[in-house]
Amino acid sequence: MAESGRQAPFRAAGGLARSAVVHARIGWGADDADARMANIYTKAVAAQWAEDDIDWSLARPLELIDYRPSDRDAAALRASPFAQGDPDRWSVYRRELQAWLISQILYGEQGALVLTSRLAETLPETSAKCVAASQVADEARHIRVFQRYLDGTGHAYGPTAEIEELLGLLLSDSRWDVLFIGMQVLLEGIALAVVRFADVLFADPLLADISRRVARDEARHLGFGVVALDGHLGGLSSAELAERREFIAEAVALMSQRFLFDGVWERLGVPVAEGRRYAREDPDMVALRRVLFSNVAGSLRRLGLWSGLQPVFATLGLVKE
Ligand SMILES: [Fe+2]
Ligand SMILES: [Fe+2]
Repeated sequence: MAESGRQAPFRAAGGLARSAVVHARIGWGADDADARMANIYTKAVAAQWAEDDIDWSLARPLELIDYRPSDRDAAALRASPFAQGDPDRWSVYRRELQAWLISQILYGEQGALVLTSRLAETLPETSAKCVAASQVADEARHIRVFQRYLDGTGHAYGPTAEIEELLGLLLSDSRWDVLFIGMQVLLEGIALAVVRFADVLFADPLLADISRRVARDEARHLGFGVVALDGHLGGLSSAELAERREFIAEAVALMSQRFLFDGVWERLGVPVAEGRRYAREDPDMVALRRVLFSNVAGSLRRLGLWSGLQPVFATLGLVKE
């Protein structure tokens, strides 16, 4: 593809379909025993916002955004297999990286919408079902705003094989807590890091505005995941806990692989092996992956699942050894 020039908005064709046995439940009681859950619901209702609250007049093609390298970028600029020290080529690379990251966030949001709907069906407590239902509305809004943003940029990407694989695994799993861990802890944890660091990662006021709003919602979603799982995991047998750890290790490896940015290298005409080597070794890229997985590691610690998983994170370079 050409290094510059707008593309038609990307619309992923086909989609993803999986079957699962779903144990849908209705709890008859008022069930407000866990004050934390009631509190999250109250906050969720009060914090609703609308797509039109965003200042869409800030939208502009990514070609008009200034991505020139800062002094901090000097080493990465020299090492980049695409930029090779050229600031103009660096701008093209940063632009594509931004479009790639936001595209992947969008696919995570689409997974979150469907999987959270399933949580509203399957969670045992009514109070948790209500929180899940409020989250469904949040995820719908996130899909709308990220799709609208990407449509305006002309530089969107399709879903990676890794996100399709993880979402496929989650869609076909009947265990609500596994679904929770995969979506609320892993996918949402990574998404929260991207939107929280949007000011640092992207030079785009529109994206900063969207990200601030989405970050508030995602922080609440992550809190929901931790509260819902807290207590439940303590009741599982050691064999069941080992299964959960195994699932998390597999999912983390998949997501870590995803952040080697194959799609960006392909689009820029860089041999993927060369792009991957840069993504694995460049200190800024290593630091980026650590930031992306920092919420995930924090949540796993809070849930008491960290022991046994720390070496997985260390081997993948997602935490300092
Ligand atoms: Fe979301
Ligand atoms: Fe979310």
